[in-house]
Amino acid sequence: MTRPSLPGHPHFAYLDGALFAENIPLRDLAATHGTPLFVYSKASMLSALAAYQRGFAGRDAQICYAMKANSSLGILQVFARAGCGFDIVSGGELDRVLAAGGEPRKVIFSGVGKRRSEMRQALNAGIGCFNVESEAELDVLSEVALGMGLRAPVSIRVNPDVDPKTHPYISTGLKDNKFGVAHEDALRIYRHAASLKGLQVVGIDCHIGSQITDSTPYLDAMDRVLDLVAAIEAAGIPLAHIDFGGGLGINYNDDTPPEADALWQQLLAKIDARGYGNKKLMIEPGRSLVGNSGVCVTEVLYVKPGEHKNFCIVDAAMNDLPRPAMYQAFHAIVPLATAGKPSAEATYDVVGPICESGDWIGRDRVLSVAAGDQVAVMSAGAYCMSMASNYNTRGRAAELLIDGDAVHLIRRRETAEDQMRQEQLVAD
Ligand code: LLP
Repeated sequence: MTRPSLPGHPHFAYLDGALFAENIPLRDLAATHGTPLFVYSKASMLSALAAYQRGFAGRDAQICYAMKANSSLGILQVFARAGCGFDIVSGGELDRVLAAGGEPRKVIFSGVGKRRSEMRQALNAGIGCFNVESEAELDVLSEVALGMGLRAPVSIRVNPDVDPKTHPYISTGLKDNKFGVAHEDALRIYRHAASLKGLQVVGIDCHIGSQITDSTPYLDAMDRVLDLVAAIEAAGIPLAHIDFGGGLGINYNDDTPPEADALWQQLLAKIDARGYGNKKLMIEPGRSLVGNSGVCVTEVLYVKPGEHKNFCIVDAAMNDLPRPAMYQAFHAIVPLATAGKPSAEATYDVVGPICESGDWIGRDRVLSVAAGDQVAVMSAGAYCMSMASNYNTRGRAAELLIDGDAVHLIRRRETAEDQMRQEQLVAD
């Protein structure tokens, strides 16, 4: 029997009116593990990765999963076993990579505010490259490395000043963002880096934003980066790799981002045309590897009709799914069961139990729901659990990884006791 999968979610599909993740009905998982519950499809992650791997076939390339998108150990393990490296932004993320079996030499360390202790930790682990974001950071990193008798491998994150046409909070490559160094300062800063004894310049890095659904900003950014590669190498500073960041969008709501392999065909054509086809390529995709590989299953607690608005109150909230509150982001909300006695259809704001008006998950959604029904919040694999909080002393949800017929619990539901473990009362 064929299963009509949901748009953008090839491994989540209805069969006989029940929504499945791979071969498992989500309602069975909710019955066993409770809600809210994150459910991930391993096949979906691997097929998203395969699109990049196809794009890079025959090239010297390293895919570094930007683990801020979802840093749960069971997810990292999938990517580590598939040969990925990791883009990290903290010492804590490095600890997670190592705990999940990732290889330190495939780790790149991004971020504008690395602490000396984190630099030491990363140098001790033997990571592949530091993506340095300011001149001041270069000086500190060189000093830290020299103090350890080492040279730190670095690339400098340059800001190509192109508009990625995405939400202002997640665009990073514009002049006024805090990230990277200005395109016009880059050559001077590369010269400075090359003069520092504790550093070894190995590459160039750029990342222009997130949830990018148009190829144009990528193509423009690549032109700008390649111009700099030419200028830096002409100044006698060889660059072994080009790191082109992440940012490729996913289909949340009729979005039509380019496929990873098609996009890279265009980008590689530019690289080849400039004669840089032999350089090592690195990328840092996050959302596009995991976003549509996960859903959050939640139960309807109450349906609350109002004069102007109807509310559908569910047991997931902004602490589990922060993106709507933070970015007015859209996540599709679909029923787990379409068969059975239908409730009357109505338009609802889908909201959580948190005491904030900003605690909403979807607005003006047409749903046929009653208390006790379960729904899936789609596209919840990226920037949901990794941004989850304990606000209102809500425990973080459980997470399951589905692999065909197998169900793996990769995070048990957090208890109040777990949350209070780090705290203590003041002794009299
Ligand atoms: N590399 C760097 C240096 C980054 O800053 C980011 C994301 C990535 C790679 C991965 O980007 P991706 O492929 O996932 O777009 N919380 C926001 C997204 C913040 C992205 C931050 N940087 C959201 O939920 O939309």
